[in-house]
Amino acid sequence: MPIIDLNNCTRCLKCVKDCPAFAITIETGVISKNCIHCGHCVAICPEATVFPDHGEIVPLRPNPVTAEDFSLLSAGLRSCRNYQLKEVPEEMLLQLVANLRHAPSASNTRQLEVAIVHTPEKVQLLNHLTEESLIALFSLVTSPFVSPFIKLFSPKLDIQKLRRYKKSFIRRRKENTSMICHHAPALLLFHGPVSKTGMLEADANIWATYTTLYAHSMGLATCFIGFIVKAFGKSGKHNHHFGIPPGNRIYASLVVGYPKVKYKQECSRESPAVTMV
Ligand SMILES: Cc1cc2nc3c(=O)[nH]c(=O)nc-3n(C[C@H](O)[C@H](O)[C@H](O)COP(=O)(O)O)c2cc1C
Ligand code: SF4
Ligand code: SF4
Repeated sequence: MPIIDLNNCTRCLKCVKDCPAFAITIETGVISKNCIHCGHCVAICPEATVFPDHGEIVPLRPNPVTAEDFSLLSAGLRSCRNYQLKEVPEEMLLQLVANLRHAPSASNTRQLEVAIVHTPEKVQLLNHLTEESLIALFSLVTSPFVSPFIKLFSPKLDIQKLRRYKKSFIRRRKENTSMICHHAPALLLFHGPVSKTGMLEADANIWATYTTLYAHSMGLATCFIGFIVKAFGKSGKHNHHFGIPPGNRIYASLVVGYPKVKYKQECSRESPAVTMV
């Protein structure tokens, strides 16, 4: 729990009003067990008299990023599937993860951890295991014995399309030794406890998005790899190879590296439809 030093408190009530958990009784300086450790009270106190339960009080510096800067950053951000044969230094990978202290999570539960896969052997192993899992999954779903049952429960599922997908997957695997990981030198796996009620998948994708933005500003490139989540998301069979403890599952994955390609034009995509209500 943060600690309020009432000696310097002016009773401005800013912390009380900004606390999402209604956990502060300023008269006594007591913070209740409802506290979600979000640190809003630390951040808002004009007297810097609320002390965090983790780390120190760090004054915010002015942020020079303009709306135009951010829009330009977003415009240049593309999924990279073409990487230089160059390692990303360990310090940089750790820096990417350290920045996640700024990222939000549902109810500030912060249950996610990050496994950094950074040796060529492990990246290759992850690539291989993902391919194998997906091909096995496609084979099962499209088999003449199983597909009628699947059709029964999911009548809209296009089995023919899945068969074509499987074929193309097998063909591409023969042509490319890094079809899933795109020959990237490193990969971040965002994992956390298996949870039916939590919002860890949303948290993981937000964390991966923060990482993407930060990586890009460092001259790196990234690509979300949903295939890994699909292949391993539900089964933790191979997790031990990548330092993921039993009981955890992968919720998002991101390859990281120095890009080989440079884009000159913005993408030609439409903004989403809008409804004003
Ligand atoms: C949740 C998610 C999962 C994705 N999974 C993969 C993947 O497994 N392999 C891949 O090459 N790209 C993957 N992508 C990248 C998308 O294909 C890409 O974002 C999209 O085609 C738009 O291109 P852009 O990111 O360059 O703008 C994924 C993107 C997201 C957001
Ligand atoms: S850390 Fe967040 S939830 Fe806890 S007392 Fe401060 S503002 Fe309230
Ligand atoms: S924000 Fe700081 S000064 Fe204001 S009431 Fe809370 S602890 Fe006191």
